[in-house]
Amino acid sequence: MQIKRIDDSFLNEIFAISKEQFKNESYSISQLKDCLNSKNYICFGVFIDMVLTSYVIALNTLNDVNILSIATKKEYQNQGLATILIEKIKKYAVDNKKTVSLEVKSKNLNAFNLYTKLKFKVISKRLNYYKDNDTALIMFYNLQQ
Ligand SMILES: CC(C)(COP(=O)(O)OP(=O)(O)OC[C@H]1O[C@@H](n2cnc3c(N)ncnc32)[C@H](O)[C@@H]1OP(=O)(O)O)[C@@H](O)C(=O)NCCC(=O)NCCS
Repeated sequence: MQIKRIDDSFLNEIFAISKEQFKNESYSISQLKDCLNSKNYICFGVFIDMVLTSYVIALNTLNDVNILSIATKKEYQNQGLATILIEKIKKYAVDNKKTVSLEVKSKNLNAFNLYTKLKFKVISKRLNYYKDNDTALIMFYNLQQ
């Protein structure tokens, strides 16, 4: 297994995972390309036998790293891959005295459980935020409260 920074040479693989997992809520290919080409984003992937199996894309700001998209290919889920990627982001954030933030649908229990297990805390809620009226949970790691 290898964990590597990824750029837009992996655009098609990332888009395929994103479409598989987020369906019609996936980022478009041009949005992904913009992220992968920009120095303002941190993008990591997990490779198993040279296959991209999981990715994370995060916006790196002055005091916070905002996880925008994270997904694992179906057949590789529940093997700790997203955990590895989030731990990479957390380490970068702690080393640079930044927080990590993200937004998750309250009904997305797989993701919510993952973030809770990794010590993210809900700091606010946006009711009826999504098209399906689900609530957005805003979660932070490393926030001094
Ligand atoms: C959420 C997601 C990225 C997790 O990826 P993953 O590589 O399977 O995650 P990991 O194996 O590292 O994480 C395991 C932890 O996540 C949670 N989790 C993941 N899948 C779960 C499931 N099917 N049921 C319950 N909890 C689950 C648990 O806390 C689990 O820890 P445990 O095994 O100790 O119980 C993956 O399910 C996915 O791609 N989902 C679709 C895209 C998505 O929703 N992204 C997040 C948007 S905010």
